[in-house]
Amino acid sequence: MKIIRTKEGMREWSRSCRAQGKTIGFVPTMGYLHQGHLSLVEEAARAADEVVISIYVNPTQFAPGEDLEVYPRSEEEDLRKAQEKGATVGFCPSSLYSEGYQTNVIVEELIKPLCGVSRPTHFIGVATVVTKLFNIVRPDTAIFGKKDYQQLAIIKRVVEDLDQGVTIVGMPIVREADGLAMSSRNAYLTEAERAQAVALSQVLDLVRRATKNGERASHVLRDMALTHFKKFPLLQPEYVEIRDRETFELVTEVHDRCFIALAAKLGTTRLIDNSELD
Ligand code: PAJ
Repeated sequence: MKIIRTKEGMREWSRSCRAQGKTIGFVPTMGYLHQGHLSLVEEAARAADEVVISIYVNPTQFAPGEDLEVYPRSEEEDLRKAQEKGATVGFCPSSLYSEGYQTNVIVEELIKPLCGVSRPTHFIGVATVVTKLFNIVRPDTAIFGKKDYQQLAIIKRVVEDLDQGVTIVGMPIVREADGLAMSSRNAYLTEAERAQAVALSQVLDLVRRATKNGERASHVLRDMALTHFKKFPLLQPEYVEIRDRETFELVTEVHDRCFIALAAKLGTTRLIDNSELD
């Protein structure tokens, strides 16, 4: 596996790769890799000749007071795991922003609801860094997880709106045995918090089951979710919302193009989860 640490080096490799007629699959990450990330690498290996994984904890998507300084890191192990799953290049830049940087990518509407309420600048940082990474790596295909459902929708919007010409693939959420969606941030949870973190996927199961049994009213499903959360005293729900998968508009009656999204805090750790509803 080739490790590249500069933008120039990455551009150079990408140019020569394309000159040889090879396709490039790309998996952007912030590292501390788990099986969720690795499932994206495996998909990239199926989709393209070469697989680039980037490991970069992007400062512009963290607000002051968030966990940028303590975000977990394990680069050496990450690269080993990614290589095992088929990554051919690890792109680990020390910085991506030039002195005097002042250009951002702002997706007007999709950044506003859900996580955008408590993290108003987060998706500006995400859309900007992913655009920068696409410009440097120049991939044919990029793979993202549905774990970050709003992020995935925003990236698809950017690619379409700015004619980036990258095929975006969304992959299913990989979960722990008890249902908790894998996340690098799960490492922050205390033992007691970890035990209660199962509430998020339980709520998704409950709501999915209720819709299968014919319940369509969003407010009933939402109340069901909030009532279940009350059984977990360490957990503070931030939002429970059912929205249209394409437009992200709130729906009052569940139809077959919806998803339910949740965010909750356990102590100082903020967790998100979601499920498409059919
Ligand atoms: P990070 O949180 O490291 O996630 C990298 C990718 O892994 C994202 O596409 C995310 O949706 C996916 N992922 C995380 N947990 C997953 C799980 N349990 N199952 C499936 N996929 C999962 O998302 C980011 O980094 C950053 O915002 C980034 C896009 C790299 C921009 O900085």
